[in-house]
Amino acid sequence: MTDLRLDYGEAELLESGRYEEKLVAGGMRCHGGFDESGEYRSPRTIHRAPAIAAWQERLRRDGHELVRVDRALLPPQYPSVEQSKLLLLEGVQEPIVRALTIISIVEGFGAIIRDVPVPKLDECVVESIAGTALAHLERGLFEAHARDEAGHRDEGGHKQMWEAARDLALETPKVPNDVLMRIMGRRAQRERRRLLPEIDADLERMLNTMATVLVVEIFATGTFEWGVKLLSDPEVSAEPQRAGDMVRFIRADETPHVEYLRAALSEVAARTLRTVDGGTLSGHEAVDRLMHANLKGMITTRPAENRGDVREGLAASIERAGRSADLIERLDALEVAWTPPATTGFEPEGENAASA
Ligand SMILES: [Fe+2]
Ligand SMILES: [Fe+2]
Repeated sequence: MTDLRLDYGEAELLESGRYEEKLVAGGMRCHGGFDESGEYRSPRTIHRAPAIAAWQERLRRDGHELVRVDRALLPPQYPSVEQSKLLLLEGVQEPIVRALTIISIVEGFGAIIRDVPVPKLDECVVESIAGTALAHLERGLFEAHARDEAGHRDEGGHKQMWEAARDLALETPKVPNDVLMRIMGRRAQRERRRLLPEIDADLERMLNTMATVLVVEIFATGTFEWGVKLLSDPEVSAEPQRAGDMVRFIRADETPHVEYLRAALSEVAARTLRTVDGGTLSGHEAVDRLMHANLKGMITTRPAENRGDVREGLAASIERAGRSADLIERLDALEVAWTPPATTGFEPEGENAASA
């Protein structure tokens, strides 16, 4: 491992380096910027990107696989690009404004990762965690992630960048004032149950948050594709280049989030966790249980929830825009059927994995 640098200071993982030109969106200075060749460079990656690559390489050299989510699990976006385009061409903006605003709010929520209590990991994990992503969660990785999503000081982050993309493409539309309230209502309904009752509650909470965020980040790939296609389309976007680019920049910034979470969860899977009753639990079993539960929710209940939320206001939006109700039938005709795969790829092996 001598050629791999595995230890970094917090300041290094938060360092962006110098930009030739800074990114400005909707009059706001945002994170990230452009190098001499005009190429966009994500914030806080000058050390963070090679660090994550080194931690992943170490796992590979030690013979461990990285946690991998099958892309077949990603449900189609609703409304799809075609459906969204039809709505916009018909002058029904509200559902799309709502969808883009939800994305910006959810991006901002990503900052909660810095508030997740990190237990003493060297006590919770049997094997050493020196020189791992796990050892750097509290030393820059969570903080960098939070800053990327919600912005930092006078710099906008993904929340502000999505708002800028929306306002560029749709010419600063009126934003419905109940978007946040409805998201919060939906979140409050979700049940919380312990998935790893064998281990310390704080450790479970941290690992589950990481698994949840990883799954959300991976599933967001579909949302980004949708955003790039729709907002880059000159038929429906007032600023196809700038609005589309904004989404492309955000998408580029997401790579380190997915990759450090994959590294850290894979490091857990390669180790052994201490249980509260003095025994041990295989890290592999723990990660499988968390990933399975999170993926299961995302492929079964969530697509229907999302679709229901969109459709709830659809008829009213169409009516307010002065369009006839048969637009819903035309939208439905564009629908693509989707059945979730039968397995998540993280099916826990059995109940007897915990040993005393
Ligand atoms: Fe983000
Ligand atoms: Fe992210």
